[in-house]
Amino acid sequence: TMVARSTTGVSVSTAAALPILTKLQNDCSTPLPVLRHVADAMATDMRAGLAVDGGSDLKMILSYVDSLPTGNERGLFYALDLGGTNFRVLRTQLGGKEERVIDTEFEQVSIPQDIMFGTSEELFDFIASALANFVKKEGGKFVLQKDRSRETGFTFSFPVKQTSIDSGILMKWTKGFAVSGTPGKDIVVCLNEAMGRQGLNMRVSALVNDTVATLAGARYWDDDVMVAVILGTGTNACYVESVNAIPKLQGHKSISGKTIVNTEWGAFSNGLPLTEFDREMDAESINPGEQLFEKTISGMYLGEIVRRVLVRMAEESSLFGKDIPKRLRTPFTLGTPNISSMQQDTSDDLEAVGSILYEVTGMDSNLDSRKMVVEVCDTIAKRGGRLAGAGIVGILQKMEEDSKGIVFGKRTVVAMDGGLYEHHPQYKRYLKDAVKELLGPEISSNVVIEHSKDGSGIGAALLAATNSIYEH
Ligand code: GLC
Repeated sequence: TMVARSTTGVSVSTAAALPILTKLQNDCSTPLPVLRHVADAMATDMRAGLAVDGGSDLKMILSYVDSLPTGNERGLFYALDLGGTNFRVLRTQLGGKEERVIDTEFEQVSIPQDIMFGTSEELFDFIASALANFVKKEGGKFVLQKDRSRETGFTFSFPVKQTSIDSGILMKWTKGFAVSGTPGKDIVVCLNEAMGRQGLNMRVSALVNDTVATLAGARYWDDDVMVAVILGTGTNACYVESVNAIPKLQGHKSISGKTIVNTEWGAFSNGLPLTEFDREMDAESINPGEQLFEKTISGMYLGEIVRRVLVRMAEESSLFGKDIPKRLRTPFTLGTPNISSMQQDTSDDLEAVGSILYEVTGMDSNLDSRKMVVEVCDTIAKRGGRLAGAGIVGILQKMEEDSKGIVFGKRTVVAMDGGLYEHHPQYKRYLKDAVKELLGPEISSNVVIEHSKDGSGIGAALLAATNSIYEH
């Protein structure tokens, strides 16, 4: 398409969209004081959530995980992982300190839309049947010890009110799940019933959040891991807390004096720099007013925010031609992986940006409009990454305040996982920059932010081993 040039050299169509971009950048900006406020508020909200149930946006859920893997775990253990776009089953043969992980196998299926919006029974039957098929293929290096029944860890990545290490009640769905009948029910009971229907005999020995499983998986290799963060479809963080720093915890004994707390930080909302696009997306979501931090920084939403900005630009300028393609108007057509791919285009003519726009949304573009799109992507990714970094600093800050030097005065590892962190280099860079800006060069040299790939699968199997009925 030809674009008329104005006398300033900016194309006419771009000029009309420019104020939208400028306002967006302004509304999304995260200078140091904004980051500092978010980090401080995160620490404050954590304390309020630890004081009493319902004391803050952050649920600060007790995981009942009081001891982390040591390396001594042995035997065959399974893990189930439900929480995002995929469902995974995994088995691992553990060989103790010398042999560690002898072998691991997994299978992955994507969760059909109708299951995400179906009934509780349908969801758990789907899970149990995938598990039963997987168990049938057990063999080779995988051997169940004599006289034992199979045990599994269950990574269930939604807010669950744990009642013990192997039971817990779903508080609400997040991340676009809307399965009826599950909230208020014990997840392990639901799974056990479905396994019964499949004729499968397996004991769920640990029910854990994905953050908790990631922490366990990373700790297996590195004793300095204190925090785990997921940045994927959704987002969340957990950390190692002292039992005596949890006022709401009564009568729970932990031999180690430590326990893992699942913050459910996706629900954080204090002082976020939000735009009209965020507010509209939230209002139209299936959980309005909830999970605002998640909606600002996680993978399910970044592409959707960008799409909304592009619709506005298309409406108010001729940037993308006269007609707005229907697909651009359809919520969630533009995925966060598309955003990342467009940001990787370093070619002069931004050809990849052009073809992604065309293939995914049906939009025509020229160099000017492509540049504009990349700017929008960068603005949204930058805000997300920097806010995630501020959240991490908030957690570390809270731990440091309680322990005086134990966190910042020595090597402390934050284990990271999730598709967004793994596949979006700019986002990751922005996150790390924000952590550095907030902590300063000296302290940040002690804080190691490390990708723990698939720690959550292995982590759940490890926690199944740690909590095995045969080990006590
Ligand atoms: C959502 C869930 C949370 C999970 C996170 C990452 O925020 O509520 O439990 O850990 O997504 O998967």
